[in-house]
Amino acid sequence: MNILSAEKIGKAYGHKVLFEDLSFGLEQGQKVALIGVNGCGKSTLLKILAGLESPDSGQITTRNDVRLSFLPQEPDLPPEKTVYEVVFRSDVPAIRLIETYERLTHTDPTSPKLTEVINQIEAMDAWTYEVKIKEILSKLDVDYPDRLISELSGGQRKRVALAQALIEEPDLIIMDEPTNHLDLASIEWLEKFLSTSKQSLLLVTHDRYFLDRITNEIFELDGGNLYRYKGNYSYFLTKKDEREQQQLAETEKAQNLFRRELEWLRRAPKARGSKAKYRIDAAHELGEAARKRHDSAEVTLQVKGRRIGGKVLEIKHLRKAYGDLNLVDNFTYTFARRDRIGITGPNGVGKTTFLRMIVGEEEPDSGKLRTGDTIVYGYYRQSGFRFKDNQ
Ligand SMILES: Nc1ncnc2c1ncn2[C@@H]1O[C@H](COP(=O)(O)OP(=O)(O)O)[C@@H](O)[C@H]1O
Ligand SMILES: [Mg+2]
Repeated sequence: MNILSAEKIGKAYGHKVLFEDLSFGLEQGQKVALIGVNGCGKSTLLKILAGLESPDSGQITTRNDVRLSFLPQEPDLPPEKTVYEVVFRSDVPAIRLIETYERLTHTDPTSPKLTEVINQIEAMDAWTYEVKIKEILSKLDVDYPDRLISELSGGQRKRVALAQALIEEPDLIIMDEPTNHLDLASIEWLEKFLSTSKQSLLLVTHDRYFLDRITNEIFELDGGNLYRYKGNYSYFLTKKDEREQQQLAETEKAQNLFRRELEWLRRAPKARGSKAKYRIDAAHELGEAARKRHDSAEVTLQVKGRRIGGKVLEIKHLRKAYGDLNLVDNFTYTFARRDRIGITGPNGVGKTTFLRMIVGEEEPDSGKLRTGDTIVYGYYRQSGFRFKDNQ
């Protein structure tokens, strides 16, 4: 039985129709990744399923007793609340008890109420829950319970919201790009956490490895349609390719037929009036089908006209430290054309500083950075684009 079903739902913003007549269900224990190109409506669909946004048509039904939590792409948390308040905002009795326990141990450890709460936790067998909550908070680096939400960075807010969604232990968890602000260690922990949990899952992610480790089914939102694939990402790619080849073959068939019908129409223009109307109409329809170009979903980046010399970037004996913290120690590397390099490491290890040295926003302590003459950097900052006031 489905824990959640969508029936013929449709949504448009102005003239832009995101989807129409979309129907599907989620079963207990199913772990699904929702994928699709940017702007195709994934976030909107998740918001509709989570009940934060209403569809223009159709309806969402959830099984009666289902508890659901939702992590939006950009969580909207109350700015005046503390992290602690947000993380523990739940009606689940065990969470309420643990919250009281945590609060009293820190503010009023001799209170008789505390003994009472400890007994209740004992009776509910809820200590494992407490351990789990602590694990979630520490693995997601949410270790600033007293700070106000308004003081947090976007990434910290997302981690607080993620912690809160996980702590709830819902039956169904819907997540929009959960790994965006996590470092590698947290991502690996989250992979294990989600893949071993019995919860049903629907998530949007651009991280193929994350997707493969957690989900066993893929929903693809493409041109307003939802395609389902029971398998991992490689399986999806194969099947998608088959589907597109088939569409292409159909379009080509229509084009050939259309060409023949056009010739027929042209052959005897004078007699057109007497030509069967149905055949002329059919030819027009064929024209439509033949024009149905297959839009590739892939994003292609074009580099226009600039000749790039062989040398891209040479780094020699680069060193950088902040006080005692050695970020880069005698690093030498030559970047070649077409290199694609990922830099990984836990938070605070110096990844951003390294990039800032490359683009010249930060001076190294010693060493040399030599850039090819025709090289222009594209740098997308962690904090997004920064605009000057007059831009
Ligand atoms: N509240 C809104 N008002 C108007 N347009 C919106 C709104 N939310 C999203 N859109 C538009 O709908 C499209 C789909 O957005 P979204 O669901 O965020 O896509 P995705 O998550 O797949 O990138 C985009 O073109 C976006 O600009
Ligand atoms: Mg989105």
